Amino acid sequence: MEVKGQEILLSSPPPISSPRWWSSETVVVVTGGNKGIGFALVKRFAELGLSVVLTSRDKERGHKALDLLRSQGAFLLHVHFFQLDISNPSSITTFTSWFKHKFQALDILVNNAGVSFNEIHENSVENADTVIKTNFYGSKMLTQALLPLFRPSSPSFSARILNISSRLGSINKIRNPKLKEMLQSENLTIEEVEGMVSLFLKNVKDGTWKSQGWPEIWPDYAVSKMALNGYSRVLAKLYKDKGLSINCFCPGFTQTSMTGGKGTHTADDAATVAASLALSPPKDLQTGRFYIGFHRPGKIMNSKL
Ligand SMILES: NC(=O)c1ccc[n+]([C@@H]2O[C@H](COP(=O)([O-])OP(=O)(O)OC[C@H]3O[C@@H](n4cnc5c(N)ncnc54)[C@H](OP(=O)(O)O)[C@@H]3O)[C@@H](O)[C@H]2O)c1
Repeated sequence: MEVKGQEILLSSPPPISSPRWWSSETVVVVTGGNKGIGFALVKRFAELGLSVVLTSRDKERGHKALDLLRSQGAFLLHVHFFQLDISNPSSITTFTSWFKHKFQALDILVNNAGVSFNEIHENSVENADTVIKTNFYGSKMLTQALLPLFRPSSPSFSARILNISSRLGSINKIRNPKLKEMLQSENLTIEEVEGMVSLFLKNVKDGTWKSQGWPEIWPDYAVSKMALNGYSRVLAKLYKDKGLSINCFCPGFTQTSMTGGKGTHTADDAATVAASLALSPPKDLQTGRFYIGFHRPGKIMNSKL
């Protein structure tokens, strides 16, 4: 994904289609739904009448989120909760079999859960392993586990995945020419994406990462999102004619715990745009796109992943 020079500006937020193509039978899974943008997304989807699975890695935090939704007057009839730690393979297995038993089919997956351990102006790689394991491998593992469960497409329906990513993971943030070329290649593979991530972690371990052209701002987080974008691009190509759309969305600088409460807009604002993208009418639904919200006031930038 090369953001520079490929801007398409859409009106923002995209209108929720009318008449709605979804119903309370439409099932959406949101990871990291107990707070921040994930919580706001669960609330938004519930308000719009979908069946929402709020997942949280911590049971108690998940139940507290449900209580908060209730206290905010959200319609909870179609909100379900299940514990899910995306960095834990056995948690993914347990979740997947519960989901299959309860719903049989999935319509929308929002890979929202993510971590960063840096303060706004801090660029440490101390927690690189956890950041990569969660933001890239966690979302990838869950996606792979749920892929067989997506509802088959029809002329009026297409399942979709929205990966909550970041502009910090844009290809133009990497200064290593070989890696840049690889990421831009039309023939990019998942193995190459994983190879890039392993190389980054190796450079972190041997203390050479600063001289290898990796992103300078939130380096571990940026590489994790770069890998998520690359993976999404490969998957989008793989599923192009199979009725599954895969896109990434950067919510912009949003006021959540990840940013210490700083940001240009609220989690509810970010969720409104993310939900509109996730609910694009089947006829307008794209795949392999990278959307950046709040890039300019009232605008969403849309480029090829
Ligand atoms: N805020 C921004 O400015 C911004 C900008 C660009 C992209 N994003 C992306 O937006 C997404 C949401 O972030 P946010 O800003 O809403 O941050 P947040 O308030 O810190 O929320 C992060 C969520 O992810 C969950 N999580 C972390 N590790 C997990 C794991 N292993 N398994 C399951 N859930 C896990 C957290 O759970 P706990 O409560 O248990 O920690 C929390 O629910 C992230 O992917 C982030 O990278 C945010």
